[in-house]
Amino acid sequence: MKNILILGSGGREHAFAVSLANDKNVSKIYCAPGNGGTASICENVNLDILNAIELLKFVNEKNIDLTVVGPEAPLANGIVDEFQKAGQLIVGPDKYGAQLESSKIFARDIMAKYNVPSPKYVACSSRDEAEIAKNDIGLPVVVKADGLAAGKGVIICDTEMDFKSAMITMFDEKSFGDAGEKVSLEQCLIGEELSVFAVCDGTDYVILNSAQDHKRAYDGDQGPNTGGMGAYSPTPLSTPEMLEKVGETIIKPTLDGMKNEGYPFKGFLYVGIMIVDAEPFVIEFNVRMGDPEAQVILPLLESSLFDLLYYSSMGDISKAEIKISNRTAVTVVLSAEGYPGGYPKGMEIHGLDNLQNDLVYHAGTKLSNEKIITCGGRVINVVGFGENLQKAIDDAYRIVDSIDFSGKSYRKDIGQRGLKYISEK
Ligand code: AMP
Ligand code: GLY
Repeated sequence: MKNILILGSGGREHAFAVSLANDKNVSKIYCAPGNGGTASICENVNLDILNAIELLKFVNEKNIDLTVVGPEAPLANGIVDEFQKAGQLIVGPDKYGAQLESSKIFARDIMAKYNVPSPKYVACSSRDEAEIAKNDIGLPVVVKADGLAAGKGVIICDTEMDFKSAMITMFDEKSFGDAGEKVSLEQCLIGEELSVFAVCDGTDYVILNSAQDHKRAYDGDQGPNTGGMGAYSPTPLSTPEMLEKVGETIIKPTLDGMKNEGYPFKGFLYVGIMIVDAEPFVIEFNVRMGDPEAQVILPLLESSLFDLLYYSSMGDISKAEIKISNRTAVTVVLSAEGYPGGYPKGMEIHGLDNLQNDLVYHAGTKLSNEKIITCGGRVINVVGFGENLQKAIDDAYRIVDSIDFSGKSYRKDIGQRGLKYISEK
């Protein structure tokens, strides 16, 4: 029986915790810092997830067998390198591999070197270089801050005016700080977007499933960008043939490439894809699970999550049995009024005690005086299931109605794009 440490505090980390708590291999789970949901199945611990020394001290004291990293920042900081030096098992890529997410230019250079299907791009360090690249690529063009920008560093320019204003944002106002010192100027791909999630062991990979996120705050994909307001899995776009193509043309050459560079890639690979004329192209790589995509991908995994993560970090994923449900899952994020702008905190959440078998992951919640109260923008993720997308949507919104807090906000159209794809097939 194994002891686990999970790093992070969102719905994704609660989803990891629930799957691992139900795993026969797992005895005790700690979550740093965790939330009101992880508090009921883990021991929440107040550790700085960016401080490898503090984490390793804890791992030694508590005999942790495996550490699971939720967000990208510890990976980009090199936590895996520190754990490997100390002989401790952790899930994820080393600092070099984490650049597939933390540097958009690094990622594009790897894709170009190893023939991974991707849009034309030019790395630019100045406005003049960007102007020349834009004239070469043509409009519409995508301007991407090279570094981590909390999902906000991408500007799509349809017109010359858009491009001028993107240049001001990146190079004059320096809105993304150091992250925007260099930019990747990219051909704008037009097609259907989906994400594919794989777990890698340095050489091989397993595809878990596909998902589609809903990044904008309001119905009809309107309003400001958020961390994600809901997701569903699988998407009707991901036929078995498409997933195989993603594996063969994108994931395999990327893993071979990283190995060739001397840094075999382990952990989650989240592949953001645009399908153009039935061919998949990479929009972005992330080196972790998505949030809220984990909340639909993980509950559809019927085999042991522990085995999968353990053998990924041991470098032998072929030892992990993989079984994925053929049902559909839909998660709807309940957020605080005002999110992603300013929002109040501390509202009591009602209805959580009457859930019975319904699946609800906590995100911005905490336990306070025996009550669960809100303490973040994305508060609760309900998850519905069904034998098809429509039934999963209905199930999710049924659960939405059973939970309440003052200012509860959510999108009413999660999954509708998927229904549209199905009706157009
Ligand atoms: P990212 O932060 O890289 O996921 O980009 C945010 C969003 O911008 C993506 O989800 C896409 O919708 C869009 N995007 C990024 N790169 C491109 C591209 N080269 N072509 C078209 N859309 C893109
Ligand atoms: N849901 C988007 C992300 O996790 O990056």
